[in-house]
Amino acid sequence: MAMLIDGKAVAAELRAQLRQKVQRLWQERAIRPGLALLLVGDNPASQVYVRSKAKACQEVGFLSIVEHLPADTPQQVVFDYVARWNEREDIHGILVQLPLPKQIEEQEVLLRIAPWKDVDGFHPENVGRLVLGLPCFVPCTPAGILELLRRYVGPLSGKHVVVVGRSNIVGKPVANLLMQKTPDANAIVTVCHTGAHDLAQYTRQADVLIAAMGVAGIVGPEHLKEGAVVIDVGINRVVDPASGKERLVGDVRFEEVLPRVAAITPVPGGVGPMTIAMLLWNTYRAATGEVWRR
Ligand code: GUN
Repeated sequence: MAMLIDGKAVAAELRAQLRQKVQRLWQERAIRPGLALLLVGDNPASQVYVRSKAKACQEVGFLSIVEHLPADTPQQVVFDYVARWNEREDIHGILVQLPLPKQIEEQEVLLRIAPWKDVDGFHPENVGRLVLGLPCFVPCTPAGILELLRRYVGPLSGKHVVVVGRSNIVGKPVANLLMQKTPDANAIVTVCHTGAHDLAQYTRQADVLIAAMGVAGIVGPEHLKEGAVVIDVGINRVVDPASGKERLVGDVRFEEVLPRVAAITPVPGGVGPMTIAMLLWNTYRAATGEVWRR
């Protein structure tokens, strides 16, 4: 029987721990972690994510600010929000929800976030630090994946992890994290992407497969070796032909691969809740100043 990797339960446990740490931080140092969230435009998925992030902040006792700007907002206005939040002492973390409308250059925005408030870990300084193995803010989804693997799979040292997808948000950072020479990682990492002519040729070698392509149901049993562990990062909205209703599905055909895998994350309830839990931890660490400061 395949083991279900319950990200929802782990995330709830992490939030409960954090609630206590937040109380202590207030009692001992009079600091309340604060996160500023910026959403530009009307992307429905982004709206849901930002709402969930703000709700999670409230649940653990953080201050949170949400700014929702129209889709045609000029780039300079976004720069100005970031600059103001960089200066505010009560804001320890800044998150600009991606993707941004096309008139706004993503990298230009990320560059302007103070790296010690960059709780997404997307600033080039944190990206560079991650690659070099220096203290840094680790992007939330990769950090959540590592925490699930640590709890459910155990040591990854010498295991072959195949990552499918090379995004800056998931694929690249999770590959960098897993190849680090640390007790939690030290894996053999292969990164596949749309350039692969025969994807299954690579993925069938995986002890752990991380599916992060953003294509509904692209991974089936033909991509997996018997007893593999599957981490499904996909969150795809599809219309269920039977009911006509929208539902969330992963990149993996869950029911089909179930007999073949040792463990798997469901969608929803797997990686998604962990992303938010890790965002909260990063914000807490930004508030304590324990990660790094210039
Ligand atoms: N869009 C999809 N995932 C993320 C994330 O983790 N952070 C931000 N800022 N935008 C995203």
